[in-house]
Amino acid sequence: MKIGIEQIGFAIPNMYLSMDDLAAARGVDPNKFKIGIGQDEQAVPPLSQDPVTLGVNAALEWFKPEMRDQIGLLIFGTESSIDESKATAMYAKRLLGIHDWCRCFEAKEACYGATAGLMTAYDFIKNHPDQKAIIFGADIARYGLDTPGEVTQGAGGIAMLVSADPKIMEIEPTSTPFCDDVMDFWRPQYFDTAIVNGHYSTEQYLRFFKNAWNRHKETTGLKIEDYVAFCYHLPFMKQGLKALRLILPEASEAQQTLLQKHFDESAAYSRRVGNIYTASIYLSLISLLDHANDLKAGDRIGMFSYGSGAASEFFTGKLLPNYQDYLRPEAHKEIFEQRRRLTVPEYEEQFKQTLPHDASDFDIDVTNDPAPVVLTGLKDKQRIYDRRK
Ligand code: HMG
Repeated sequence: MKIGIEQIGFAIPNMYLSMDDLAAARGVDPNKFKIGIGQDEQAVPPLSQDPVTLGVNAALEWFKPEMRDQIGLLIFGTESSIDESKATAMYAKRLLGIHDWCRCFEAKEACYGATAGLMTAYDFIKNHPDQKAIIFGADIARYGLDTPGEVTQGAGGIAMLVSADPKIMEIEPTSTPFCDDVMDFWRPQYFDTAIVNGHYSTEQYLRFFKNAWNRHKETTGLKIEDYVAFCYHLPFMKQGLKALRLILPEASEAQQTLLQKHFDESAAYSRRVGNIYTASIYLSLISLLDHANDLKAGDRIGMFSYGSGAASEFFTGKLLPNYQDYLRPEAHKEIFEQRRRLTVPEYEEQFKQTLPHDASDFDIDVTNDPAPVVLTGLKDKQRIYDRRK
C-alpha cells in the first residue's frame, strides 16, 4: 500500500515587506539580508489572519465538499496557537464542515509540529486505509522590530491531504527522527515574540541534520546519488543552503549542480514569505514542485524537518505518475502578484497592532483582506471567524 500526499496547498497574507526597504531602514547592507541571510521579501499578516485562517485558507486551495466524510484524522501543527486549551484543529474542522467522527487535535514542537502530524497520519492510514487525514501547519513568526531575527519573520500556512491514494508524493516507510533538549529558541506564555539564541540555533540545526542524515544512510543503505532533491525547513534560505553544503561533497560534480538547482527552486517561495515555522518545509516542497520542470515519477526527495527545542526528522518521498496534474503553479503565481508591498512605517504600524491581551470585545476591519476565511474579531472572549467563500 502506498501512503502519502494526495493534495497540498498554501496560504499567505496579502501584504509583504521588501528586504531592500528593511535593510535601508535598519542601516544594513541589503546584501546581508539578500545574500548573507538569503531573504528577498517577508509576508506581513493583517490582524484578520491568524494560524486558523491561514491553515484553512491553505486547505481551501484543494478541499472539496465530498471530502468532508472521508476525513478520520485532522492534526493542526502550530507554535503560534491561539488558545492554551482548545485546539486550532477544532476551528479548522468546523470551518471546513468536516463530520464529527474524526480524531481532531493540535500538535506542538516548534517548527516540527506539522511533520509530527504527517508521521502520525502515515501510521493512522496504515490502520485505516479507507479514511484520509488532513495535516495543517500554520504560523506567524515574530521576533520584534529591529532585532537580529526581524529579517527572518514571516506568516503562512499549508494543508495536506494524506491518504492511501496519494497523487503527488508517496512517503517511504523508513524515517529518522533525532531529538535532544536544547534551549535554542522558545516562547514563554507571557511573550508574543520568540526568544532565540540565534547563532546557537543555527549550529543546532546543522548538528541535528548531520546526525539524522548519517543515521538514515546507515539504516536504509541509501546514498546521496539516490536523491534528486532535498527540501529543508527554511527559517531563512541560507540555513538550508548550509545544511545542503554539508553533504554536497558526497555527490559527483554533475549531481551537485542538480541538487543546487533543485535547492534554489525549493527556496523560491520561502525567500518571498519568510519563516512560517511548522509550514516551512512543506512550502519548500510546493516551491520545488512548482518550479522544477525536470522531475519525474519515481524521483526521490529527501526532507529535513527541524523544530527548535529541538526535534528533527529526516524522511523521504517518491514522486508519483502525473503528480504535475495536482499542482497549481499559475494560481500560486497570482497569489504572489496580488500582494501589496508595504512601506517600512506601514509594516511597523501593522506589527505593533495586536489583538487585546484582555477580555474586551474587538472588531477587525476585514475589507482589505481578500482571503476566503478571516478573523472578524473577538466577542465574549471568543475568536469569531467568517468563511466568506
Ligand atoms: P545576525 O547575527 O544579524 O547575522 O543574525 P550574521 O552576522 O550571522 O550574518 C548572517 C550572514 O550574513 C553571515 O553569513 C554573514 O557573513 C553574512 P554566514 O557566515 O552565516 O554564511 N553577511 C553578509 N553577506 C553578504 N553581504 C554582506 C553581509 N554582511 C553579513 N554585506 C541570525 C543571523 C540567523 C542569528 C538571526 O537572523 C536570528 O537570530 N534569526 C532567528 C533564529 C533562526 O532563524 N535560527 C535558525 C535555526 S533554528 C530553526 O530553524 C528553528 C526556528 O524556525 C524556530 C522553530 O523551530 O520554531 C527558528
